[in-house]
Amino acid sequence: MNFNDKLNQLKDLFIKDSTTLSYSEIKKKYSGKGSVVDLLTDEFKKLSSDEKKDYGSLLQEVKKEIHEFINKKEEIKVTKKILDVTAYKPNAKRGHLHPYTHITRKLEDIFISMGYAIHSGPEIETEYINFEALNIPADHPARDMQDTFWLNIPGFLLRTHTSTVQIHALKQEPPIAIFVPGRAYRCEATDASHDVVFMQAEGMLVGENITLGDLVGTLKDLFKRLLGNDKIRLRPSYFPFVEPGLEVDAQCPFCKDGCATCKYSTWIEIAGAGMIHPNVLEKAGINQDKYNGFAFGMGLTRLAMILYGISDIRLFQSDKLEFLNQFN
Ligand code: PHE
Repeated sequence: MNFNDKLNQLKDLFIKDSTTLSYSEIKKKYSGKGSVVDLLTDEFKKLSSDEKKDYGSLLQEVKKEIHEFINKKEEIKVTKKILDVTAYKPNAKRGHLHPYTHITRKLEDIFISMGYAIHSGPEIETEYINFEALNIPADHPARDMQDTFWLNIPGFLLRTHTSTVQIHALKQEPPIAIFVPGRAYRCEATDASHDVVFMQAEGMLVGENITLGDLVGTLKDLFKRLLGNDKIRLRPSYFPFVEPGLEVDAQCPFCKDGCATCKYSTWIEIAGAGMIHPNVLEKAGINQDKYNGFAFGMGLTRLAMILYGISDIRLFQSDKLEFLNQFN
């Protein structure tokens, strides 16, 4: 048997062994001192220089193949360890959701089940969409209600409310039913109940023959599922983009005859709402002979503060783990 035959024999044997032997058996048999590869290398060293020329590269090739096979197996072994989903690590620290995420998901579930679509919109807006299109012209006193962060780019601002998404959504042909959780910005001094950025949620329904009764029914359904009670109180209010405009209160979920949360009134203010103002629909190009609708806006931050008993709004943006870990 010449050296070439021996090489081929080694190759065949390895192919067979690689499917039948365990990894440690292969490693022992084919690599390191005393392995079959080692023995054949010793034999190679004894060959004449002509034979060495003939078989040198072939031997290297076979060695390389075996080496690569063994290495790959080793890699797979290591990868398996990393991906072992059954591995148990005692006292592992796990991440968890922010209170905003908890409340947002809860509300999204409720509105999706009522057939609403979840929308979002840009936080950098034009003055037109944030104000004019919502029936708040430049000289309107209502602009004072919402202290605005203006950008260095003329005509652009950080949206002061999520009502802007009404205008984006009104580009579609009704019926439109959207629920929009998102951030809003106000240029205000920060204290325990005011922050420059906070969460709101907008709801809007536009269709045929929508009434105030539909709005009340929707909000009652919401309160029942969110607070376990559908008692609702409406107070006349003013927002330029709705007519009539309402302030919506829910019965305090924490007491019967008054507590600190409801400021001893048994009611908590949840939303501003109303029937969409004809000027808004007109600017959006909605056919008002056919369609009308309602809109409401809630302070999600405020709602989270009430439901989770958070006394300082600044905690939401803080990195205080004692605060965040409570929502585990
Ligand atoms: N956008 C109003 C606010 O920020 C809330 C609102 C939304 C009121 C929709 C009425 C209808 O205060």
